[in-house]
Amino acid sequence: IREKGRALPLKGKSVIVTAGGTKERIDPVRFISNDSSGKMGHAVAEAAWEKGAEVTLITASPLAVSGNITVIRVESADEMHEAVSSRFDSSDALIMAAAVSDYSPETTHTRKMKKRDKLTLTLKKNPDILKEMGKRKQTRQCLVGFAAETDKIEEYAKKKLEEKNADLIVANDVGKKDRGFNVDKNEVIFFSHHEEPQTINLKAKKDIAEDIVDWISNFIN
Ligand code: CTP
Ligand code: CA
Repeated sequence: IREKGRALPLKGKSVIVTAGGTKERIDPVRFISNDSSGKMGHAVAEAAWEKGAEVTLITASPLAVSGNITVIRVESADEMHEAVSSRFDSSDALIMAAAVSDYSPETTHTRKMKKRDKLTLTLKKNPDILKEMGKRKQTRQCLVGFAAETDKIEEYAKKKLEEKNADLIVANDVGKKDRGFNVDKNEVIFFSHHEEPQTINLKAKKDIAEDIVDWISNFIN
């Protein structure tokens, strides 16, 4: 709940958050997707709203959201791309917490495919939303990406920071149990350009979301 008299460092700022795992349709009853509940992204959207921001949540997750947040439900990476791209230029921050599918089926069948002995799917690469917004970014805008890694966290996270022109990469080790996907807690490391990596020890996603939003407030104010 937004409390009267509480500090609202993001008042007047427009923030876009993406969440959930996109679904890429094979046919009307089948899709490929990534493991992601959307909990982290939804928590970030709520935390940004609590700090006074005008928040648009573009989500592929069915989870509910509290607060006066504009919610745009999408399914595929293409839909998420379009929803982000059309709103990005007028925003002050974009937090890409979504697990965007890297690939989608080259053809989506309009009718249910009948099962057969073997099925070969050809997948095409989806647009990299964060990277594209990184190219378009103005200096006043803050761009936050996530990195889910099973190994070489620091190396890969720093590479994503550079290659996507992000200001902050929130990295998590998805190889460890009890954190990351589909659970309420997470342990992450913040990678940015002018600070040493900062480990945020295992705690509720809601609390991590607050740390992320505080980092953004410091960056844009
Ligand atoms: N991302 C995106 N568009 C994509 C893929 C990823 O915007 N098509 C964003 C994610 O939302 C996340 C960041 O890029 O904030 C990193 O995603 P991740 O899957 O860790 O990295 P990739 O660049 O896709 O590389 P890889 O999966 O090979 O590690
Ligand atoms: Ca990926």
